[in-house]
Amino acid sequence: MSYQAEYSKSINTPEDFWREKAEDLAWFKQPEQILSKDANGIDRWFADGELNTAYLALDYHVENGRADNTAIIYDSPVTGQKRKISYLELRDDVAKFAGVLKAQGVEKGDRVVIYMPMIPEALVAMLAVARLGAVHSVVFGGFAPHELAVRIDDAEPKVMVSASCGIEISKVIEYKPMLDQAIEKSAHKPSSCIVLQRPEAEASMIEGRDLDWTEAMATAEPADCVPVKGTDPLYILYTSGTTGKPKGVVRDNGGHAVAMKYSMKSVYNVEAGDVFWAASDVGWVVGHSYIVYGPLLAGCTTIVYEGKPVRTPDAGAFWRVCEEYQAKVLFSAPTAFRAIKKEDPEGELLANYDLSNLKTIFMAGERLDPPTYHWTMETTGKPVIDHWWQTETGWAICGNMTGVETLTPKPGSATVPMSGFNVQILDPEGNELPAGEQGAVAIKLPLPPSCLPTVWGDHERFRTGYLTDFPGYYCSGDGGYKDEDGYVFIMGRTDDVINVAGHRLSTGEMEEIVAGHPAVAECAVIGINDPLKGQQPIGFVLLKNGAEIEDDQLESELVGLVRKEIGAVACFKRAVVVDRLPKTRSGKILRKLMRQIADGQDYSVPSTIDDPTSLSVMEDVMSRNGLITE
Ligand code: COA
Ligand code: AMP
Repeated sequence: MSYQAEYSKSINTPEDFWREKAEDLAWFKQPEQILSKDANGIDRWFADGELNTAYLALDYHVENGRADNTAIIYDSPVTGQKRKISYLELRDDVAKFAGVLKAQGVEKGDRVVIYMPMIPEALVAMLAVARLGAVHSVVFGGFAPHELAVRIDDAEPKVMVSASCGIEISKVIEYKPMLDQAIEKSAHKPSSCIVLQRPEAEASMIEGRDLDWTEAMATAEPADCVPVKGTDPLYILYTSGTTGKPKGVVRDNGGHAVAMKYSMKSVYNVEAGDVFWAASDVGWVVGHSYIVYGPLLAGCTTIVYEGKPVRTPDAGAFWRVCEEYQAKVLFSAPTAFRAIKKEDPEGELLANYDLSNLKTIFMAGERLDPPTYHWTMETTGKPVIDHWWQTETGWAICGNMTGVETLTPKPGSATVPMSGFNVQILDPEGNELPAGEQGAVAIKLPLPPSCLPTVWGDHERFRTGYLTDFPGYYCSGDGGYKDEDGYVFIMGRTDDVINVAGHRLSTGEMEEIVAGHPAVAECAVIGINDPLKGQQPIGFVLLKNGAEIEDDQLESELVGLVRKEIGAVACFKRAVVVDRLPKTRSGKILRKLMRQIADGQDYSVPSTIDDPTSLSVMEDVMSRNGLITE
């Protein structure tokens, strides 16, 4: 089938299209209602179907001849460990851990927060929660206690699952003290914490609240799969919005399972038995979809890699893993390849490895800049596919369906809309723009399966954040255009969300923290270009009258504050003191103009500006601080 035929069918007859795709799963009760509205008036998929996602990911394969196939390959250059886990072993571990959770009172619909490094137990915990029909919320290990506390208060978990530590190259990051601090800070108190002791650090346990993972598993009674409705939530994944409070993206069971299974073949062209490697982290959406659920639902082998693209031990790490496990697909963020290119510009380390099994390299998480695209393709000799997606959708909105028809890529473009995503470029009034014109990238409703139906505990935020700017469309928050061939070019966020090393962060949240410093009167944090990480946040700070603090001292205190509140992953390293910030007459800081100045772009001075000279002052400050890129 051609891409066009597949895509047109998904848009013109969505119910027929997705009914057929749903038949590819072993539901406990096949859905009859394919698309319906929920009480909030939101389109929902497979409302009357019954399934269990962990059953489909594990038991189904065990029952269908894949018990001995490898489900997980764990490769940890930071600890020197390598391990293979079969589908049967994984199913049994998951059933046992589900028993541990059940004994702690976890039932269908209860939340469990998981704060773990990249180890197989993180997947065991996620799948065990799913097995019970409960809802997991994984928090990325690079987030600080405050961020964890905010998520605990929002998700209100009954139980927390963690490990004694994570390892960042050679640094041991102790998780347990952070977990304890987070629970101390949060108003909601989980009733128990299950902690995996790793040999690199010993967690001190709180009597009566904390349980040792290994001891609990030794005596656990395996628990069965609990059937859930297609629309019941599988997980909540918090992502950065424009304010300090992260948004709890809700993923349902039915639509998610259908989209995951479908995408493994249509987008990535893999089948049961293939080795699929998403070099990301289970704390991000890429990790949820393509380290855990997608590969396992498809019966593939997934690689859990506890390392970096560089320095573990060198820039050949990705090629070593691809060769050693015969990965068919490698998926990571462009920043990972820029890091490899920086250390090994000629790709000399590639010569040490046989990549003949590797068919395609996929990238997402941030814009794939053409130099990185060309470098990766030329040094590896492999097709490189950019695809654009968001935590909110759970899978690619635009990409190249290598399992349907591979279209000729165009550097800088995420290629074309995926099945079910009716992508349109809109002007500020909501009119669809013709080819070549840049505007807001929006998706005409209904969204296809897997996309969020709400924000956890705050449906109004979902409505106002995504559905009200352009009635009848989902507003993605990204800007871009389509060319005459329908290829979509995503040019960057139109809001205060930035992408640093493929990690989505909120400058609004950083501003709230910076503004909390006693010497700071006002501030703006913007993302500027960074050759390695794509973007980096920079603070521009106006001091309070009479504040007596050296600029260097203030910068180091602000850097420390953001690191303490959000975590190292924020990469907030620079804060520049300024005399004034460009503003409108009503006092709104002109952040977009500041970004345009930093990016060396032409800009027009808005008529609403309060003081036009503030722009040349800003340009001068940025130039003196080496912040302007061309
Ligand atoms: N737990 C604790 N700390 C973490 C962490 C984790 N899981 N992940 C990152 N950090 C820390 C890092 O150690 C670093 O700390 P430092 O400031 O003390 O050095 C800080 O957060 C910033 O991390 P990062 O931005 O990742 O920078 P890096 O220099 O460690 O690595 C790359 C740079 C490009 C190699 C790395 O970001 C990478 O591999 N990215 C791949 C992309 C990816 O995984 N994207 C996810 C979505 S696809
Ligand atoms: P996240 O929710 O963390 O996956 O981040 C989603 C955001 O990352 C999107 O809204 C985009 O701004 C950006 N993004 C992800 N993939 C791409 C891509 N392939 N091209 C351009 N931007 C991307």
